[in-house]
Amino acid sequence: MRIDVVTIFPEYFGPASGVGGPLGVSLIGKAAARGDVNFHIHDLRQWATDVHHTVDDTPFGGGPGMVMKADVWGTALSVILSEAEPSAQPLSHPESSTPPTPAAPSTTEARLVVPTPSGLPFTQGMAASYAAEGHLIFACGRYEGIDARVVDDARARGMAVDEVSIGDYVLAGGEAAVVVIVEAVCRLLPGVLGNERSVSDDSFGGGGGAMHGLLEGPVYTRPRAWRGHEVPPVLLSGDHAAVARWQRDEALRRTAERRPDLIRRLASGDGLDARDRTVLIEAGFPVDGESMAH
Ligand code: 6GU
Repeated sequence: MRIDVVTIFPEYFGPASGVGGPLGVSLIGKAAARGDVNFHIHDLRQWATDVHHTVDDTPFGGGPGMVMKADVWGTALSVILSEAEPSAQPLSHPESSTPPTPAAPSTTEARLVVPTPSGLPFTQGMAASYAAEGHLIFACGRYEGIDARVVDDARARGMAVDEVSIGDYVLAGGEAAVVVIVEAVCRLLPGVLGNERSVSDDSFGGGGGAMHGLLEGPVYTRPRAWRGHEVPPVLLSGDHAAVARWQRDEALRRTAERRPDLIRRLASGDGLDARDRTVLIEAGFPVDGESMAH
């Protein structure tokens, strides 16, 4: 998989953007070293056209802050696409002197991902679908965001575009969100995790495993007793069915406590069996079909 990141802070991603920062460590770093993922970090300012390398301007309609300029972003995306897919029909630069070409049919296999607090919530399901893509381009906004015509134009040219948020809070820019999304995606690449089973047992496990749609419960390792706290005896019993049942019960109780929305989602599908419902009722969670509905 190829991943391009366009940012005004390339150094955020590592020394001289040679990728030794957050994208060079641990799982992502190993995937990159193996060549399963190839990162290309770009400084947006190289595509600015004035001596000051200006990438932003005041917003039409007024208001606080600055908006990132469409022409700079348009050039950035055109250059990256032609570099990545030299055989694809080149996208014309809107600011060039040639007459505008009509919106071309799909010319690229790349997906454009724009991190923004006003985007769709990023989910494990999206991470799984991104992991199946051949090429992702991340456009990091700063200031008050990117001129909306950049996304409109990319879509009009046949590109798949997602504006995504990583949560209900506001970051100063998209860079940290890119690291979050890339980590979620890269650990799903074939061979990256080493232990394929642990993906399906994850909280939000996309693999459809036993814990699908639930938060993971508590985990323990040696010693059996530590500062007077004992490991739950069932985990030492060697009874695999009993262990699995206990782990699911713990996951159900924890999810009901911390994320009741996830329990309601499971209940409205057929994600809860009779035993699950008994566990939840015993934990004081209302699981009758009626009150679960909303
Ligand atoms: Cl993706 N970007 C920014 N700037 N802020 C955010 C976010 C993204 N997700 C939540 N807050």
